[in-house]
Amino acid sequence: MDETYHSRNGAISESKHVFIKQGIHRTQGNIHILEIGFGTGLNALLTAIESEKMQRKIKYHTLEPFPVPNHLITALNYGHWLKNSSMYDAIHDTNWENENALTDTFFLHKTTQKLEYIKLKDSCYDIVFFDAFAPKKQPDLWSEPIFSKLSQSLKKGGILTTYSAAGQLKRDLKACGFVLEHPSGANGKREMTVAIKP
Ligand SMILES: C[S@@+](CC[C@H](N)C(=O)[O-])C[C@H]1O[C@@H](n2cnc3c(N)ncnc32)[C@H](O)[C@@H]1O
Repeated sequence: MDETYHSRNGAISESKHVFIKQGIHRTQGNIHILEIGFGTGLNALLTAIESEKMQRKIKYHTLEPFPVPNHLITALNYGHWLKNSSMYDAIHDTNWENENALTDTFFLHKTTQKLEYIKLKDSCYDIVFFDAFAPKKQPDLWSEPIFSKLSQSLKKGGILTTYSAAGQLKRDLKACGFVLEHPSGANGKREMTVAIKP
């Protein structure tokens, strides 16, 4: 797709801002997260670290139809940069298609199913980390039917957080009944989107 997995201006700082600060920190207690796009496992690693720090149980269901090859995962080495190599390895070594307890607080379920086809439970998740490739690269994923499906899978008051604040995204989310907030984005980006299910 000729696309990067992360912001070129700082992958870790963007993930921390969009998904931890504007996602997890808006919630309380034990939560269930759905991630669109497991990719390098960076968001999963940051979430695992956060769950331990806050002593909150987090179930993390993540979709990745095109797993990143192992040699690239090793070369990226986010475990080193985030000082938690054992968790980084565990996140990548753990089985696909099952939920596995990686610690007392972090439960990971990776699946290779695509968002378009996966059957999601209604009112199941507290947060959706919407981290698909950019709208111009994957327009089918940034569409009203997909956001409607995600809204149905969220609990009341649940949130969808994403790095994008594109005009069409805002219109599609509003059409699905979400209430939108646009905090400033990461690394000097003007805005991002947090969509709240009323
Ligand atoms: C921006 S990257 C995700 C980065 C990731 N969250 C991380 O922490 O490294 C987008 C991911 O979405 C995945 N993807 C592509 N098509 C998809 C689909 N139809 N359903 C779910 N995920 C998809 C891509 O393979 C890619 O890994």
